Amino acid sequence: MFSLRIASLFLLILIAGCQSADNSTQPDTPEPHTTVFVDDPHSFSRPDRVVTTHLDLDMFVDFDEQIITGAASYKIARAAGADDLVLDIDSLEILKVVLDDQPTGVIYSVGSGNEFGQKLTIQLNKNTRKVTIHYKTSPQATALQWLQPEQTLGGIYPFLFTQSQAILARSWIPCQDSPGVRLTYTANVQVPEGMMAVMSASNPQKTNSSGLYEFTMEQAIPPYLISMAVGQLAFEAVDERVGVYAEPAMLEAAVYEFADTPRMLESAEGLYGKYPWERYDIIVLPPSFPFGGMENPRLTFSTPTIIAGDRSLTSLIAHELAHSWSGNLVTNATWNDFWLNEGFTVYIEKRIMEDLYGADYSEMINLLDFQDLLETVEKLGNKSPLTRLKLDLDGEDPDEGMTDIAYEKGYNFLRVIEEAVGRERFDQFLKSYFSEFAFKSITTEMFLDYLRAELLTSGDEGIGVDEWVYGTGLPDNIVVPVSDRFTNIEGLLEEWYKRKITVQELPSDRWTTHEWLHFIRNLPANIEVERLEELDAHLYLTQARNAEIKSAWMEVAVKRGYRDVLEELEDFLRVVGRRKFLSPLYEALYNSDWGRDEALRIYARARRGYHAVTVRTLDEMMQFDPEKYKGAISL
Ligand code: BES
Ligand code: ZN
Repeated sequence: MFSLRIASLFLLILIAGCQSADNSTQPDTPEPHTTVFVDDPHSFSRPDRVVTTHLDLDMFVDFDEQIITGAASYKIARAAGADDLVLDIDSLEILKVVLDDQPTGVIYSVGSGNEFGQKLTIQLNKNTRKVTIHYKTSPQATALQWLQPEQTLGGIYPFLFTQSQAILARSWIPCQDSPGVRLTYTANVQVPEGMMAVMSASNPQKTNSSGLYEFTMEQAIPPYLISMAVGQLAFEAVDERVGVYAEPAMLEAAVYEFADTPRMLESAEGLYGKYPWERYDIIVLPPSFPFGGMENPRLTFSTPTIIAGDRSLTSLIAHELAHSWSGNLVTNATWNDFWLNEGFTVYIEKRIMEDLYGADYSEMINLLDFQDLLETVEKLGNKSPLTRLKLDLDGEDPDEGMTDIAYEKGYNFLRVIEEAVGRERFDQFLKSYFSEFAFKSITTEMFLDYLRAELLTSGDEGIGVDEWVYGTGLPDNIVVPVSDRFTNIEGLLEEWYKRKITVQELPSDRWTTHEWLHFIRNLPANIEVERLEELDAHLYLTQARNAEIKSAWMEVAVKRGYRDVLEELEDFLRVVGRRKFLSPLYEALYNSDWGRDEALRIYARARRGYHAVTVRTLDEMMQFDPEKYKGAISL
């Protein structure tokens, strides 16, 4: 009954949408199109010919069928002579295409496509200004994760969230799915009664009785930043600009954890000028969210695994907030320029952390990240093309480029420039960079031109810009972070390991999360199981509430054959879907001399609770064949 009522409401929205369009006010000639676009190897679309500039989206979210039925209505701009609109789709069922609200014979075709989706080509009339695509998503849509009530804290309502970056938007909205394209949007979304929908747009703060929500995003954003979450949600303000959405049972803890967000925002504004997106809210998603965070404009999506109870993992919020400038305001033109998004963001994140908590604290995080970078380069090989900042991902999944290189090598490049020119000049430069390229999508080369024109002089040749950007591995002038607090931890670890002090004598109750992590990561590679038991008996690391500490510990435990962690590990792997934790843990278990069958057994049961991107990575890593496990376990 309840879906019928929703269905009829949806119909009403569609009709209302059609009636409000007033053809008489539209001039005969379509919007002219002058923007220059660079080729994007990951999109079929041809924005150089016809570009979408605004989207009005109507959606009906059907949890029973796990399908979204939608109507995407685009305003377009056309280059002279261009008469077809090309969109990306992935497994969408196209129901109907309408031009300028005239439902007569529209010619469109769906190409056979490749692993990134299919090409939808729509023939336009001479004066077409608006194109509407009626469609349905597939239950397998890669951007959508549909959660069962058991996967939520409340346990009563299901949950849905989207993850469009990098090229998944096309699986829930037919669009020009290239970061070089920008558009404004509105949306009307119908969800079941009792549930709230939120998007990367102006958002409701209360659940309403109709389940119908309206959204507006007035600033032009690339399609990978269009996002939505639907669930039993509540909102609480942190201050007048910042607020938190979460399931009711999570809200209080989340508001506590994110108390410093307004100060982070002010810190970033102090550096790069006024926050451009009006509100900054954070939604804490259920634990199956595959990433730590996602910078959807106005509404950061976050994993609950950063709610540690002591605000120690909030550099992730600084990171997503920093994307408000690097990424969302100035965007990488293609996924080959991904480091422009992430490297700059890590740089800003670290500046915010230093500003709020001091250099002593932020250098600990820097050093942990630096060690990750060294490990990544070693794993990829220092001649690997994937260690270049500017990537060539033609024909490859952009996910391949989502390594520490974009983040940490990118950050270190900017840090080297900063050291060469001085902080003051670098700050000035970045501030003008963000205003120069605001609401634009740019390539690495456009950045380099600007850098050379506005900042560098002949005296700065020592930076080695080209080697940093186009070379593999890590240049010699990289700045190695130093942390006295970590040196101290190394000393204590050695004393304990050599039995000069006992576990109880470790001053661990005064350690921050980062000191814990440094301690755990530096345990000797061949440490005996008894020594791990000794630590665990006193420090309860297997039971740690902090997901970073817990997973770092369990990785060591698995590698060293401390099998007592297995039960707790299985619980963790079943609940958490964050790929950053799952990959190393499954990998350690799968490659251990005792845990391969356990890894496969746990994975076979947990797999259906993971997001498509996590599944893709883990299937490949464990060469998992779902067919083999069919019947035995739910897939
Ligand atoms: N935008 C990224 C997440 C992303 C990148 C999703 C590429 C899909 C494709 C986000 O800002 C991010 O970097 N998240 C990190 C956390 C951060 C603190 C390094 C993550 O999720 O681990
Ligand atoms: Zn990021």
